[in-house]
Formats: sequence, structure tokens, C-alpha cells
Amino acid sequence: MSGEIISEFDRGILRLTLNRPEKKNALTRAMYTDLAEALTDAQGDDAVRCVILAANGADFCAGNDIVDFAQGAAEFTSPEVDIETLPVFRFLKALTFFEKPLVCALQGQAVGVGVTMLLHCDLVVGADTISLSLPFLKLGLIPEAGSTVLLPQRVGHARAFAWMALGEKIGAEDALRLGLVNRVVTSDTLIATASEMAERVAALSPSAVRQTKGLMRDAEALWAVVQEEGRIFRRQLTSPEARAAFAAFMAR
Ligand code: COA
Repeated sequence: MSGEIISEFDRGILRLTLNRPEKKNALTRAMYTDLAEALTDAQGDDAVRCVILAANGADFCAGNDIVDFAQGAAEFTSPEVDIETLPVFRFLKALTFFEKPLVCALQGQAVGVGVTMLLHCDLVVGADTISLSLPFLKLGLIPEAGSTVLLPQRVGHARAFAWMALGEKIGAEDALRLGLVNRVVTSDTLIATASEMAERVAALSPSAVRQTKGLMRDAEALWAVVQEEGRIFRRQLTSPEARAAFAAFMAR
């Protein structure tokens, strides 16, 4: 573990906490690798009944680390490198095929993959501070993690397209209304609420929960979407718009 993902296990519940608050928990390749390994281990460990995804600091996650992106761009964009070996896709694959319940505790700003990963969670608790944004198109990129399918399914095409294309931020009230979060609570009760939900799910029959989740989503079909998005995302990364957007962020 890189130290930027904290893993804690207690009574059937594994809590994975993004721990890079000074960078708004922006995800690096090392963090994706840690998350992928933790989810893969949890999948195979009968003692784990439920996983909570959480984050330290005022904000949940500022998306992919843009500096790390730039450093890994050669590998990321090379057609010779198999997509499934890239840390971000190892994480997305583990998330897509994760059979146990995933609970997310969300606070403050969530950007890009910090939002699209929520669409893979089974229960989401949001603090009243949340502000969710999807800047992919503004950056010359395309939405990922299956969100081109999962988001319109969740909120309808018009709302999904407007959110992705117009770059509006979604606050707690709208997130609740759109079904992006199950509950909104104050920040000081966020982890306790997520833990209480996780405990209730962990007390259920693991096989009944796993099979229900399996029937509710077609992981193979979703993975095909994630891979196709990934292929296009890779090409878009070298577009003049994406290069200019990353250079502008790093020059701030
Ligand atoms: N990658 C790398 N570093 C990031 C980051 C990211 N995605 N998001 C934030 N950071 C860093 C900032 O560079 C800053 O570092 P510094 O203190 O060393 O200068 C630190 O985190 C705090 O960010 P800051 O921008 O000062 O906080 P803010 O509250 O004003 O704004 C965001 C927060 C998330 C709105 C803003 O940081 C942002 O737009 N980040 C980029 C989001 C993005 O485009 N992600 C990629 C999606 S594909």
C-alpha cells in the first residue's frame, strides 16, 4: 500500500480511505493499484461482507491526478500497452466485477472519476457539502468508468448530457433528487451513517446479496463499455484540447 489508501477491517466491513487530502485526493497510478489490489483481495476473502469507499479531508476526490497523468501519458497512450495492465483500468475492472456491496461516503468536491466511481457503488451517503462535477468534455476527454451508459441510465439522457457538456456542478439537494446519493447527512455524521448502512448490509446473506447485485447489473456488458471508452479516452489524451487543458492546469 502506498499510504495514500488506508485499509481498515472491522467485523466484516473493509473501509478503504483515500488519504491524500492535500491534493484533494486526486488519484495517482499508485493509488489505483492499491485500490485494485484491495478490491481484488476483498472479492476473494469470505470475511469481507461489504466495502466502504471514503476519503480524508474536506473533499472526496479531484479525479485523476493530472500531473501523474502527464507523467504516465506515454504508457497510457501507447497502443502497444494492453489497457488492462494500466493501473486505472485495473481499478475500473475490479470495481466493475466487484460482487460484494459497495458503500460510498462522499463529501465536498468530487470530480471526474471521483464521480464516475459512485455509479458503481450500491449505496451512496453524501455530506451536505457535496459538489459533483464532470469536466471531461471541457478537458477534451470523454467520460469513463462506464459512465457514458451508467449516467444516462441513472438520470436520463438530457440531464446526463447537460451535466457532462455544460460542466455544471451538482450539489447535495440535486444529487439526492437525481438518485445519485441515497441520503444526505451532515459531515460529522457521514462515516457513522455509511458504517451503519454497511453493517446492515453485512448482516444479510452474502450469497443472496451477491446474486441480487449480479442480477441488477451486467458486469460483462459494462466492462465492454469501460474498455471502449478507454480506447477513445487514450486517443483523446493526445488531442490538442487535452494537451492544452493539462498544460494550463500545471502552469497555475
Ligand atoms: N491532479 C493533480 N493535482 C490536483 C488535482 C488533480 N486532479 N486537483 C487538485 N490538485 C492539487 C492542486 O494542484 C493543489 O495543489 P498545490 O496545493 O500543491 O498547488 C491542491 O490539489 C489543492 O487544489 P486547489 O485547486 O487549490 O483546490 P480548490 O478547492 O481551489 O479546487 C478543484 C479544487 C478540484 C476544483 C481543482 O483543484 C480542480 O479543478 N482540479 C482539477 C480537477 C480535474 O480536472 N480532474 C481531472 C478530471 S479527468
